Amino acid sequence: MADIAVVTGGSGGIGAAIAKMIHAKSDGQLTVCIHYNGNEAAAKAVAAEIPGSFIVKADLSTGEGRKALLDAVLAKGTPFCLINNAGIDKPHEPALMVDEASFDKIINTNLRAPLFLMRDFAKEMARNEAGVIVNISSVLARKAVIGSALYRASKAALEALTMQFAAELGPKGLRVVAVAPGFIETAMTAGIPEDQRAGIKKDVALGAFGSPDAVAETVWHAVENQYLNGAVIAVDGGMHL
Ligand SMILES: NC(=O)c1ccc[n+]([C@@H]2O[C@H](COP(=O)([O-])OP(=O)(O)OC[C@H]3O[C@@H](n4cnc5c(N)ncnc54)[C@H](OP(=O)(O)O)[C@@H]3O)[C@@H](O)[C@H]2O)c1
Repeated sequence: MADIAVVTGGSGGIGAAIAKMIHAKSDGQLTVCIHYNGNEAAAKAVAAEIPGSFIVKADLSTGEGRKALLDAVLAKGTPFCLINNAGIDKPHEPALMVDEASFDKIINTNLRAPLFLMRDFAKEMARNEAGVIVNISSVLARKAVIGSALYRASKAALEALTMQFAAELGPKGLRVVAVAPGFIETAMTAGIPEDQRAGIKKDVALGAFGSPDAVAETVWHAVENQYLNGAVIAVDGGMHL
């Protein structure tokens, strides 16, 4: 049975880059599971570029969806990597406008999903005392951008959970790391109007948005570096400074 690297949100911009990077850097040693929610065409397009990969559809904001993903992976082999990348940033609501339905939507997708996926995949990884989990956070965990209260809360909590799980799982031979991108060119940021983009770039020391590959390279570093545990690695052109 194969060692599997699961990339949630593999149909999205950053997830697709991570899936391809893991395949390339592992010389195909890791079988890549490309998870998607609604965009089957995108997931299939990514899979077509990765020999031996497979796709799994699941709404990870639900317990049924998370179980479907775990079951599909266990049917193919042993999970070795879990990249908790699936996420949403909308709706954008100013602090005084946040509502409870938005809270449920963002927290269920960005926090509940990676938390319980970590718990359940780590139980499987612990049987072999080998595995690594990478959680995709955001520079906005540490930065106030108008309209990002719920998103910020979800990512800040995900970073806290990264450290907690790293502390508790390290003795079982597992590592947990967070990667915190800045603004990256994907569907998530494609709709930002030009004047706002210019304002954001002024906040980035390197003066530009980043590429999905820049994030994927950092994720691979986290997978490979055996002494990295509980860290939050910024890949944001200096936006957090
Ligand atoms: N782009 C940025 O500037 C940026 C910056 C910092 C952090 N991030 C983080 O990086 C990650 C990837 O973002 P991206 O830019 O690649 O976004 P993206 O292109 O919009 O992709 C988002 C992915 O999440 C999946 N997804 C959304 N809701 C889901 C749900 N309920 N259950 C399962 N999967 C779900 C989508 O699946 P389908 O498309 O198949 O529905 C898609 O694969 C996110 O966690 C995001 O918060 C992004």
